[in-house]
Amino acid sequence: MVNLAYINNKFVNFKNAKVHIEDRGLQFADSVYEVIAVLNGNLIDLNYHLKRLRYSLKELEIKYKFNQNNLKKIFFNLLNKNRISNGIIYIQITRGVQYREHKYKKKLTPTIIIYTRNKKFNLPGKNFKGVSAITHEDLRWKRRDIKTVNLLPNIIAANKAKKNRAYEAILIQNGKVTEGTSSNIWIIKNNNLRTHPANTDILKGITRTSILRVIKKTQLKLVEKSFSHKQLLNADEVFLTSSGSFITPILKIDKKKINNGKIGNITLKLAEMYSRLCMHG
Ligand code: PDD
Repeated sequence: MVNLAYINNKFVNFKNAKVHIEDRGLQFADSVYEVIAVLNGNLIDLNYHLKRLRYSLKELEIKYKFNQNNLKKIFFNLLNKNRISNGIIYIQITRGVQYREHKYKKKLTPTIIIYTRNKKFNLPGKNFKGVSAITHEDLRWKRRDIKTVNLLPNIIAANKAKKNRAYEAILIQNGKVTEGTSSNIWIIKNNNLRTHPANTDILKGITRTSILRVIKKTQLKLVEKSFSHKQLLNADEVFLTSSGSFITPILKIDKKKINNGKIGNITLKLAEMYSRLCMHG
């Protein structure tokens, strides 16, 4: 079976999908992206992802105008052709091709790349798993609200996690937790939830926003306020959220077990509520 990708208005064999060597996405990470989860054929929180994509493009003045319905057609086309019902859609838009110079020209034609991947998700049920994490200094720039492919500091921290057989690295800035390398981080203490406010220090996760909506349906209290490294380690429960991981419990951070290494009740409840919402709308 041929795996298809979509690049610059054409469906092509994934193996032949290529960009120019002077694409600014390649040379400068001058580029934005989205990762959208596909669960039982449903594109999870699709409209919110497209809204954030527009925001990222606008903030960087990348002039790519898209029609939401056309883009959706391309997504469904790729998913059908690649026979994917559980996985992810990756979409990346670069500013385009130009001779290498930091300053960009106004009228460049953006490069658009879309492809799909199969993925098995960790969802509540018999095999629901918790993960371990490490903490790592947050080395990133100051506009983390824009979803760019400028991800080297995330990659350094994520690979430190990998070396330590951990799933995620939780980033710390001036003693406070910002987020994970590719996730948002939440703590629970005495039944109160807490996560970093959505400002320029973190990416305002689409899953994060959906979980905020889920929490509103419960009696749980939530504050969007940053918390310290110490509060993280002393939390009753910790979990991460992202489009690739939904809600994933964190059971160990550095050498410290959280909730005796067991999945906490509140995390489980929220994970169940959110996955039900994703499956049945
Ligand atoms: N990452 N924070 C960062 C730094 C991220 O890269 C991500 C997502 C999130 C969670 O956002 P969302 O809920 O919208 O997926 C938070 C994607 C999945 C990635 O880079 O693969």
